[in-house]
Amino acid sequence: MNFTHGNKVVLVGTGAVGSSYAYALMNQGICDELVLIDLNEEKAKGDVMDLDHGIVYAPSAMNITFGTYADCQDAAIVVICAGAAQKPGETRLDLVSKNVKIFESIVGSIMESGFNGIFLVATNPVDILAYATWKISGLPKERVIGSGTVLDSARFRYLLGVEFDTAPTSVHGYIIGEHGDSQLPVWSLANISGTPIAKKLSEKRKEEISIQVRDAAYKIIESKGATYYGIAMGLARITRAILRNENVVLPVGALLEGENGHSDVYIGIPSVINRTGIKKVVELTLNENEQEKLANSVRTLKGIQAQIWK
Ligand code: 2OP
Repeated sequence: MNFTHGNKVVLVGTGAVGSSYAYALMNQGICDELVLIDLNEEKAKGDVMDLDHGIVYAPSAMNITFGTYADCQDAAIVVICAGAAQKPGETRLDLVSKNVKIFESIVGSIMESGFNGIFLVATNPVDILAYATWKISGLPKERVIGSGTVLDSARFRYLLGVEFDTAPTSVHGYIIGEHGDSQLPVWSLANISGTPIAKKLSEKRKEEISIQVRDAAYKIIESKGATYYGIAMGLARITRAILRNENVVLPVGALLEGENGHSDVYIGIPSVINRTGIKKVVELTLNENEQEKLANSVRTLKGIQAQIWK
């Protein structure tokens, strides 16, 4: 099986994030074949039936089935949304050892199927679990993608869109670093039609927006227990970029190998995404303050990595 052919997607984990992602894929007609796997077979089977009943109103045909790890053998992409969920008050990093153990079993089983495609990892803490997936799978780094800061960047662009009464699609800006508390907005590069945004906002306002982005997940979890629609749209966007060979720049979780002076860490960073996975990590021109914050985020993640991979 050549991993650049076919557009079968296998989803592992049909909790709130996984099933919202499946729904987004169906609504956007992104793939022809979607296989759902979950430890809770009844839940996954129920999701398959429910989704199948929407197909007649979808933009294109899609074969949605319940499956097992053996179905990963000829998949173009395996998306992992499985794992223990973040509880109120718990940081993403609290989840780490629990979910690394779960991943050893899941990724091991997927590789045993003969899978030779692209992993897209969404489970938190996503940077650590993308790194774990890369290590466990033995696949080239280009073919293990974390959701990184795709959601944080969407939150940032949304808030700036509201601030400037402009469509968020016309606001260009990135949150980079950990998908978590040490993330940072790249204010120096944020722009609307090439016009820098940073000078139009006070330091106080910029700080407020950064905090709103950083703490959005906590707020949503307090309100409704979990976040899922935003991340599902981000995952669908990455999936489309891969399957349609788009060469689009998205802030995903990528392994750094010297970019911006850092290595051996998966972190949210703008990257060119196409049918081969991460074609290239974009080297950003950061100011001193941003470089320091990125270094701090790398340190945070490497501190966790050091505890797990001693
Ligand atoms: C989010 O940022 C909890 O990682 C999840 O919404």
